[in-house]
Amino acid sequence: MSKICVMGLGYIGLPTASVLATNGFKVLGVDVGATVVDTVNSGNIHIEEPGLHTVVQAAINSGNLRASLTPEKADVFFVAVPTPIHEDKTVNMDCVTEATEAIVPFLEPGNLVILESTSPPGTCRDLLKPILEQSGLVVGKDIFLAHCPERVLPGKILKELIENDRVVGGYSRECAERAKAIYKSFIEGEVFITDVTTAEMVKVIENTFRDVNIALANETAILCEALGISFHEVAKLANRHPRVNLHMAGPGVGGHCISVDPWFLIERFPDKTLLIRDARDRNDNMPEHVANQVAALVADIQDPKITLLGLAFKGNVDDARESPSLKVITLLRERGFRVAVHDPHVKRSPIELTSLEESFGNSDCAVFLTDHSDYKYLNPAEICKLMKRAVVYDTRNILDHNLWRREGFDVKVLGTGAEPPA
Ligand SMILES: NC(=O)c1ccc[n+]([C@@H]2O[C@H](COP(=O)([O-])OP(=O)(O)OC[C@H]3O[C@@H](n4cnc5c(N)ncnc54)[C@H](O)[C@@H]3O)[C@@H](O)[C@H]2O)c1
Repeated sequence: MSKICVMGLGYIGLPTASVLATNGFKVLGVDVGATVVDTVNSGNIHIEEPGLHTVVQAAINSGNLRASLTPEKADVFFVAVPTPIHEDKTVNMDCVTEATEAIVPFLEPGNLVILESTSPPGTCRDLLKPILEQSGLVVGKDIFLAHCPERVLPGKILKELIENDRVVGGYSRECAERAKAIYKSFIEGEVFITDVTTAEMVKVIENTFRDVNIALANETAILCEALGISFHEVAKLANRHPRVNLHMAGPGVGGHCISVDPWFLIERFPDKTLLIRDARDRNDNMPEHVANQVAALVADIQDPKITLLGLAFKGNVDDARESPSLKVITLLRERGFRVAVHDPHVKRSPIELTSLEESFGNSDCAVFLTDHSDYKYLNPAEICKLMKRAVVYDTRNILDHNLWRREGFDVKVLGTGAEPPA
């Protein structure tokens, strides 16, 4: 059975490494974080993902998974490290470069390198190939290179890792066939083969598709507010058309993928990405729209306290990277508002979080920013007792608005310009 080295033990690398290990591969997981390595070696996890702890424990107990700060010789190398953007929105490929350079001393003829990180089209040919060939081995002849982008949904990673169809792009046909064989040994979905740049573009355009369509939903929501009607009613009815799928509107787009990957195309083709650029701007402006609405809700209050519910970029995950909540918090603080933030999932928070009771205590306005399931089950009668003013702003359409109104709340919903008909 092949020995596999997985570079990066985050949301993608750790589930992949442990699923490979529980499928019989000998796996070495490599991470630059010493705490990550120690945590994994002790059978524990440093991120929140349903089912992951059990699989990591099983993988460690089987003896098939080990974690280390440095790579070793292997048959297959997976690279699953971050591909973020800089402040100026240009792509930061430092982690991919460093992880690839780290495996060069261990490469041997016949090895296969698979880049899983979402990367700008051209990365394997223009960045990875020259680095790998520093080993003296020729890509496509002595060693094999493929890109297999990950498509999993946080919160369902383990299920989707096994069930999703995958696209494998090879530097050559043989590279793709070798990578396909690895995936077919542990996934149930179909594996489609293509060339390496096409595979890179497939992943980036999947996330760009979602960003553009969310932007359309957000713009529709703003138009509905101006029209004094409900976006959610419009979306529900429009989506009864067999070929329409209006996405959900919200306070913006966050996370490590959808809000980041379109920039890979904008940076490379600034003159050709007019629609993609506008969509990014529309989504990036949503936190400001939310902050303006909140400011209007507390306009007549002296030194108001605002409760913000949800720091994670989406419901039921612990990931706050690029979260629109962070931008809303910054904008409200810049305007001098007192802000208390609660999140039941986020552990590594860049800002101070408070308990639910403290967050609601003496508050003038509660704003639901993330669709965590926990929030749907809050009891408005109890919340009403904690708050100074019974005002809520639901940016994710997660509350039972009639129930909250019955308990005396003034309820504002993102995308709704007037009281919806009773
Ligand atoms: N998180 C998702 O849901 C998701 C979904 C699809 C694709 N992706 C893509 O997968 C890639 C990885 O994302 P993630 O969410 O797993 O990131 P992550 O931040 O959760 O994990 C990455 C890990 O890599 C480690 N690392 C950084 N540099 C390293 C190096 N040189 N050598 C070894 N380890 C290194 C970090 O310490 C970290 O633990 C990104 O390109 C992302 O766009 C992520």
